[in-house]
Amino acid sequence: MIKTPGYISALKPYVPGKPIEEVERELGISKSIKLASNENPLGPSPMAVGAVRQAGPELNRYPESGGFKLTEKLSELHGVDNDQIILGNGSNELLNIISYTYLSDNESAVMATPSFVIYPLATQSAGARPVMIPLTDFRHDLKKMAEAIGDDTKLVFIANPNNPTGTINTGKEFDEFMKLVPEGILVVVDEAYYEYVTADNYPDTLKYLRQGRDIIILRTFSKIYGLAGLRIGYGIAPGEIISDLNKVRAPFNTNSIAQAAALAALDDKEHVKKSKVLNEEGKVFLYNQLGSLGIDFVPTEANFIYITPGDISSERLFNELLKKGVIIRPMGENAVRVTIGTPEENGKFIDALKEVI
Ligand SMILES: Cc1ncc(COP(=O)(O)O)c(C=O)c1O
Repeated sequence: MIKTPGYISALKPYVPGKPIEEVERELGISKSIKLASNENPLGPSPMAVGAVRQAGPELNRYPESGGFKLTEKLSELHGVDNDQIILGNGSNELLNIISYTYLSDNESAVMATPSFVIYPLATQSAGARPVMIPLTDFRHDLKKMAEAIGDDTKLVFIANPNNPTGTINTGKEFDEFMKLVPEGILVVVDEAYYEYVTADNYPDTLKYLRQGRDIIILRTFSKIYGLAGLRIGYGIAPGEIISDLNKVRAPFNTNSIAQAAALAALDDKEHVKKSKVLNEEGKVFLYNQLGSLGIDFVPTEANFIYITPGDISSERLFNELLKKGVIIRPMGENAVRVTIGTPEENGKFIDALKEVI
């Protein structure tokens, strides 16, 4: 047998949120709801669905390798050059491409814990070492993360808002952090939930790009745009960095349907607005209900809530809710993450929660 490299054997594979069909089959139940993967409960924009249909007859053709039209539209939207944008098969793929491009063994990447689980996976699968800095009060401790940058550090991963806690770091905190980051370190700011943020002290990270800093900002069509199934996201960075990443990116990494849908989704501002309003309303409902049940949670800037249920273990809460057809996500021993759903889904979750506790 071929010998598996030690750093690959050591990897713990990503465990995705349970699909509805699987849960229903296993438990013999129906009408369950999935609040486990931070998807948009409204679904995709009808304009994106229309674009998917229209793309059908051209499927015999390879997609535009660099996604020219989508890249152009995104560069206009963000006021950057075309060569400062890279498309990915989900922003997840970009996390891998960044790691494979810049990390090798004997090097490290600094990240927070708990944060998005793909950061250590991407780091380790490039043979490098993740340096995990615990959150302080459920937020990235940017000062400690800056202090953790060593001679072997190449990357810093920051999720803002953070998954799973939904917290943000402010513009001022970012300014201070960026001052502490030495030359030659790439700061990866993952803004997957950017469109949901309401805080007015949320940082404008494009400013660091304009200042010529080594930064890559990641966004995705999987969350508020409701296109998680199509796998499309993008990164914005200095041209030199995008050029490096493009050498590692597989040709045709984003498919033609995804590119067409993303283009249409950007035009449907109404759908984005509706999705944000629904999220805000769901947030208020869940805050009130959790508050009156005396259950602790972390106020969120994203489309999910980090709940610390206290007396009941996260695994038990997850399993009990599962039996009632509500799929959430356990996060370690003492916390669960629940996606904000439609009013009906949020109501069903709260009803099930009341029965379980
Ligand atoms: C912080 C964060 N980054 C990236 C992603 C991945 O998104 P994509 O579907 O674009 O790969 C997620 C998905 O849950 C996420 O929570």
